Amino acid sequence: MANTEKSSSAHLFHVKPIRVLFVCLGNICRSPLAEIIVQGQAEKKDVREQFTFASAGTGDWHVGRPADVRSAQTASQHGLDLSQHRAQQITANKINDWDWFVAMDDDNRSNLLAMGVPENRLLMMRQFETDSAISLDVPDPYYGGTEGFEDAYVMLCDNADHILDYLLNQRG
Ligand code: 4NP
Repeated sequence: MANTEKSSSAHLFHVKPIRVLFVCLGNICRSPLAEIIVQGQAEKKDVREQFTFASAGTGDWHVGRPADVRSAQTASQHGLDLSQHRAQQITANKINDWDWFVAMDDDNRSNLLAMGVPENRLLMMRQFETDSAISLDVPDPYYGGTEGFEDAYVMLCDNADHILDYLLNQRG
């Protein structure tokens, strides 16, 4: 019943989903976590139907592979499921499949700009944190220990609401 109501109201107002791609390097550690955390937060805020979420890497090394086991474990420790994730790569020919790109770190941002992503559709995952002294990067946990994955999880949770509010406001 709830689903029927939601889809019929979306139809009534002709609401196009806001298409958001979370981007890191390999699409096995950070951006898959970002995707499910922000999606979960959108569900809590009851705005999930207004969005299409996915994630991708700028590199192709892990295309088709599941999330890093450490990311999947971190997710499951917090009640989130990454088991269906398969890595994909963002390339220039797919830029217009997305309204917004959310980069995990400054290298990801530079790579997206070099690919042709317009600056006005490109956000940093941490750009709405208020302490301007901090780095805006979600550090790459791939070569470190498991604690780096929990740190990434906390950073992503701290910023999920900011990102959603910004994107909803941009649509007006
Ligand atoms: P991610 O982490 O960009 O957060 O998915 C990485 C995954 C793989 C590699 C680097 C970072 N790699 O060099 O293979």
